[in-house]
Amino acid sequence: MTWQDWRAPTLALLLATTAPNLAAAKPPARPWMNTSLSADQRAALVVGKMTQAEKLGLVIGAFGRTQPGQYTPPRAARANSAGYVPGIPRLGIPPLWETDAGMGVATQRTSGKVRERTSLPSGLATAATWNPALAYRGGAMIGAEARDSGFNVLLAGGANLAREPRNGRNFEYAGEDPLLAGVMVGAQIRGAQSNHIVATAKHFAVNDQENGRNFLSSEIGDAEARTSDLMAFQIAVEQGDPGSVMCAYNRVNTAYACENDYLLNQVLKRDWGFKGWVMSDWGAVHSTVQAANGGLDQESAASFDTSPFFGDALKQAVADGKVSQARLDDMARRIVRGLFAKGVIDHPVAIRPIDFAAHAAVTQADAEEAMVLLKNDGALLPLSATARRIAVIGSHADVGVLSGGGSSQVYAVGGVGGMAVPGLGPNDFPGPLVYHPSSPLKAIRAQAPRADVAYADGTDPQAAAALAAHSDIAVVFVNVWSAESLDSPLGLPDGQDALVAAVAKANPHTVVVLETGGPVLMPWLDQVGAVLEAWYPGTRGGEAIARVLFGEVAPSGRLPISFPRSEDQLPRPRLDGDPKAPNQMFDVQYSEGAAVGYKWFDRQKLEPLFPFGYGLSYTRFAYDGLQARAAGDAVTIGFDVKNLGDRAGKDTPQVYIGPKAGGWEAPRRLVGWQKVDLAPGRTQHVILTVDPRLLATYDPATRTWRIAPGDYEISLGASSRSLTSHATVSLAARTLPVGPSGK
Ligand code: BGC
Repeated sequence: MTWQDWRAPTLALLLATTAPNLAAAKPPARPWMNTSLSADQRAALVVGKMTQAEKLGLVIGAFGRTQPGQYTPPRAARANSAGYVPGIPRLGIPPLWETDAGMGVATQRTSGKVRERTSLPSGLATAATWNPALAYRGGAMIGAEARDSGFNVLLAGGANLAREPRNGRNFEYAGEDPLLAGVMVGAQIRGAQSNHIVATAKHFAVNDQENGRNFLSSEIGDAEARTSDLMAFQIAVEQGDPGSVMCAYNRVNTAYACENDYLLNQVLKRDWGFKGWVMSDWGAVHSTVQAANGGLDQESAASFDTSPFFGDALKQAVADGKVSQARLDDMARRIVRGLFAKGVIDHPVAIRPIDFAAHAAVTQADAEEAMVLLKNDGALLPLSATARRIAVIGSHADVGVLSGGGSSQVYAVGGVGGMAVPGLGPNDFPGPLVYHPSSPLKAIRAQAPRADVAYADGTDPQAAAALAAHSDIAVVFVNVWSAESLDSPLGLPDGQDALVAAVAKANPHTVVVLETGGPVLMPWLDQVGAVLEAWYPGTRGGEAIARVLFGEVAPSGRLPISFPRSEDQLPRPRLDGDPKAPNQMFDVQYSEGAAVGYKWFDRQKLEPLFPFGYGLSYTRFAYDGLQARAAGDAVTIGFDVKNLGDRAGKDTPQVYIGPKAGGWEAPRRLVGWQKVDLAPGRTQHVILTVDPRLLATYDPATRTWRIAPGDYEISLGASSRSLTSHATVSLAARTLPVGPSGK
């Protein structure tokens, strides 16, 4: 019998309902397959029928890639995949086939054949769209590719706050603000799960730097964490309702995240009422009893851990009563509950053809809306289609666009083994460095068919400058490769600052296109005419960049992360951890608490290079008629947005609130925004309602959110530092429950 055979009992159930006599004689063999029961009921029924061995089998997983000479995955695992957990065919429970990640269906690094799939722009890029509908569409698209690749668990939903701008994984996350990150990641999770698969919010929690990620302890207070990093997860989990949450590598206040009673049992499961299962990150488990009792439900890829902690050791711990039978049942129940709730069991996955053309349109739309125009002196952009000589320089822009590295690596259709430039290091994880085959040069040529568009690879700044000097316009591509397991300083590597300076000196009409995983320093900013932040733009990035440069699309991205002027402006000018002692335990004191990103800049009265929420357009917008109303703890805000320019464009008016008397981590917090799409001359009225928790501070003693009575200033503007309209509301004292359950 195969696991798909559960369909047979469904037939029995059908017979049972249509033939009452038969039904009386023979109750359905698998009552948990009755789709009219709740996921909780179905999970309880099936766990009731499991043997101890079956329960133990569900709570431990295997890696899905061969490691020559060391490890061979189970035969039923999908090739070069992140993970596999055997199913229980007897009961109709399918195996879990797990794949990374947030940009699309990844291939675990291999010398063999990669799985070529569509890549979205980086998570940070999608956050820069400030458009949850796009995040949903992207999630739905990559979820469909996961499903049609035979995966029913997508390890996507990166909700870590970009507290540390040098974090090498910021490109997988959704920026520095908990509301923006929570809403965007929640939408992506919902989209992915619309395919009847499970998505996984990760990496829970305060996994905010990669250096020493397995050894560091994130030191942060309860209230501060719940108002920042945990708030991002809370909103993502509420809005996305993921089947699973992945606990992180790091420790939080000394306890490993995957055996952290506070994080897993108290915050996630008790306070937020999370009903799915907690799976570990790959190699993040350090114990049996402490992990099981600390809230971990499933050990992923056990070969990554120093021992299979949820194997025989767990069996023994249950036999000894160190882990209760009820707890093991709860672990199994949570896993199958997630599978029932998301439709994994009722809609078995199968390998099927993928509509790459349709999916290319989804990723391109995301990329086009993600790009942030940072500078545009003298309306240098959009480029005129009549420019005669255009120089395109650097960053392999002749053949591709950069992507971020590590477990999330997607290999695109086309290129050599999914790469535009094969053979770029590093050979070991988190390599290779991958350029997606989507050529900005070709796309620029297509936009300006009559122009002479020449390319210089940028390795020789003098040659690049000479080309620029003989061109009407120079477009210089520069990049920073970010990757899992590595943090990087904010400067451009490999002499790229000198390249930009040389080109800008040769031609004042220089446009810089940044392909980065996060913020960068720009010592040459005053010398160039325009700067476009394109992030890692995904498998149609080249086309998207060209369309924005030439004005087929007006840029509408807004920064989801502050760009500092220097690392001295950061709460920790030097990253913690000693690279010479990589295996030593250390603490990172997050003494800035909840004052993350712009909140830190505002509190410290620092002037960033580019503020959170910032981004230019090819048209101009004005805001008018700001009104705010408070009724109980509900604050409603209304205003008009008008497109003053002579072309269509999208804008993202943002609303921030702060108590006039102070008392928060920072002067103000983002409480709402709306992406609006306006034809020239048109006005739209926007109404926003504020999540009352964003008006409150957390009180650990009573485990409640408290709104302090008094006057609050409401500010409306085009960025966190361009607040042009203000209003005041008076709020009464209010106490709010810690989570949806009100407990
Ligand atoms: C990463 C996870 C990923 C897992 C499986 C880990 O290294 O931290 O994000 O899902 O590997 O590939």
